[in-house]
This record gives sequence, C-alpha cells and structure tokens, in this order.
Amino acid sequence: MDEHVIRTYARAEEVFVSGRGAELFDRDGRRYLDFLAGIAVSALGHGHPELVAALRDQVGKVVHLSNLYRHPYTEAVAERLADLCGLEAVFFTNSGTEATEAALKLARKWQRMRGNPERTSFVALEGGFHGRSLGALSVTHAAKYREPFQPLLAATFVAAGDGPVLERTLRETRPAALILEPIQGEGGIRTLPPEYLRLARALCSETGTLLIHDEVQCGSGRTGRFLAGDHAGVKPDVATLAKPIAAGLPMGAIVVAKGCAETFQPGDHGSTFAGGPLACRGALVFLQALTEGGLLAAVVERGAQLAQGLAQLQREFPVITELRGRGLIQGLRLSRGAGDLQKSLYRRGLITNVTAGDVLRLLPPYVITAAQIEEGLAILRQALAELAA
Ligand SMILES: Cc1ncc(COP(=O)(O)O)c(C=O)c1O
Repeated sequence: MDEHVIRTYARAEEVFVSGRGAELFDRDGRRYLDFLAGIAVSALGHGHPELVAALRDQVGKVVHLSNLYRHPYTEAVAERLADLCGLEAVFFTNSGTEATEAALKLARKWQRMRGNPERTSFVALEGGFHGRSLGALSVTHAAKYREPFQPLLAATFVAAGDGPVLERTLRETRPAALILEPIQGEGGIRTLPPEYLRLARALCSETGTLLIHDEVQCGSGRTGRFLAGDHAGVKPDVATLAKPIAAGLPMGAIVVAKGCAETFQPGDHGSTFAGGPLACRGALVFLQALTEGGLLAAVVERGAQLAQGLAQLQREFPVITELRGRGLIQGLRLSRGAGDLQKSLYRRGLITNVTAGDVLRLLPPYVITAAQIEEGLAILRQALAELAA
C-alpha cells in the first residue's frame, strides 16, 4: 500500500513496528537481529531507556525554537563535538548531505577570504559518496547518481590511495577543497591507508587546499575512535558528521578547525531546524553514552569479536575474498552472490545490506551484545553454507 511513496528506494515488504536494543520486530511479531542500524544511524539501538526518557522530557518542554534563540543543549553538544573531534567550532545541519553542502560552501568562502576567489572547484575520490543535493552530488563519484542531474559543480575525481595523482591534481587544478572519507562507506567499506591520509593532509596544507573529512558514516565512534581519521593521526580542517550523532533523530554537523570558524559570518549560511532542542537532547544522550557510558570501549571489543568471527568464516568459505573495515563498520567482499546472501540472511532474521555491488556491509548498533554478535555470525555461517552448496 505504498503507491503514494516515490520509488527512490527498493524497500522490503515487511512493516517494522518496534525494536529493543539490536532487535527489531515486524508487524507479525517476527524478530530480526539488526546488523545495519538504519544505515549506520541507530548507535544506541532501539528503545534505549535513557534516550526514551530524555526525549519524552524534552517533547514536554520545547521541541523547536529556530536558531534565533538559545537553549541549553545546542552549546553543550557543540562543545562536546568540538572536544571529541579535537577541533574548534560547530555548525549544525539536519543530515549528512547538508553537512557536505555546508563544508563545500565554507571552502569557497574560506578561499575567497584568503584572496583566492577563483579557487571554486573540488577534488574528490573515486568511490566516494557525500550525498545527493546538487553540491554534495558534485563530489559523489558514482556516475549512475550523477548523470541524470548534470551539469554539476566542477570536481575532479582521483583514484583513492594514489599519492602522485593526488599531488598533481591539487597543484594543477588548485581546488577550493579536497573531500574524502577515511573509510569509504557506500564505496564498499574501503579503508584509506593511513599514509595516504597523512599525505593528503600535508599536500592540502602546502597547497592551501581545505581538507574535508567526511565522517558521516565512519565517524562518531564507529571505528572505536571518535573520528576514523584519528587512527592515522590526521586532523582535517573540516569534519562532517551525521548518521548516529543524535541516536536516530535527524542531525548533522560540520566541525571546523581553529582558523576556519570565522569563515561563516551571520547570514552566510543557515537552517531552520538544525541543532534544535529535541535533536540536541538526543545527541547529548548519545555522546554521554559513548564517553562516560563506556560505549566507545564496547565498540572496540565488539568490533574485534566481529572481525575475529569473520576471519574464521573467510577461512571456511573461499567465496569471501576480502574483509574490510574496523570496529562496527565491517564488510565482506564476495566473489559472487552478495545480493543472494543478503536476502538469505534477511529470511533468517539478520538485517544487513550490500554496497558497491559485491560487499556485504555490517553496521550494527554500538549497544550490540557479545551474544548477539555470535548469533549474527552463526546466521552468516548458515547462509554462507547455503550459498556455497
Ligand atoms: C559518507 C557519507 N556522506 C554523506 C552521506 C549523506 O548523508 P544523508 O543521507 O544523511 O544526507 C552519506 C549517506 O549515506 C554517507 O555515507
């Protein structure tokens, strides 16, 4: 009965009505184990008691104010995000796409303020994904997303991991910014080598290029560090965040380094809903759980357990050609049948998805238990055996 919903997504038939932790239940009461978390969003799982209590309380106080007025939570969340990122200041958005958009606009203004108004183009990576608005789509690589909407902004795509090509392109095209995901999510959970991230940082500093790390999917603690770039010891000029940062409420953000925060002046950019009281209340619950609540340490433990289990499966099933990712963003590259495997897992009550055509993507909630990781691995073993048969 969804004929009035425009078909931009191929949706599953089941109607989901509730959840608890890493479990979801459909209308018929069937239980599913959630290894996708609404595509890297529901870090606290479903029905998290502290989140429920905080949101109930906030709904009864004030849901929306606009950015014309202060409330106690925007500043608290901004302070925590800046601190966790090791950066300076925050502009809130409502999604990852809008965070990309804000970062691209900031890059252009930053160049203009430095006397380089001609530096308007962007460099991005092959396999990168940054959103679907016209600006964000301009730096998103996949032709199938881009082609129907040309012309887009000027962007040059370079092969991820190729240092000499990156250096030449930055010097020749003199872009406003370089944008990259430290772990490419939609591109197939491809982790960029730390030395490449460090080279990109050095080249951007040297060529006066703003460095944007898109941490929408891989950031906010999913790898076991707050930013995935932290594993390489690299700080960008701008980090974009979204997906889990308000535990399921729509929120995105750019977090910018010292020296970039003054780029946006009053009137330069804005958003009616962004950083509102309800989303910020959710974000505070998430950030507290992550830090004081020990969830970041749990991601490291559960991630290691998952990686170990997947390595065992790879030894048993040669159809798994590569294991990718870290923490609770992991992927299995398959020589065949990724789509069939995902469907078989779904029939067995395990929710996952396929990205880049041949990678089964696992993005469980951070609250997933050790027993649930084992259960997911056992279901995977059954489905892989069926695929191999
Ligand atoms: C790395 C990355 N950037 C940006 C986006 C866009 O975020 P949103 O769908 O919240 O607009 C996504 C979404 O999948 C993403 O994975």
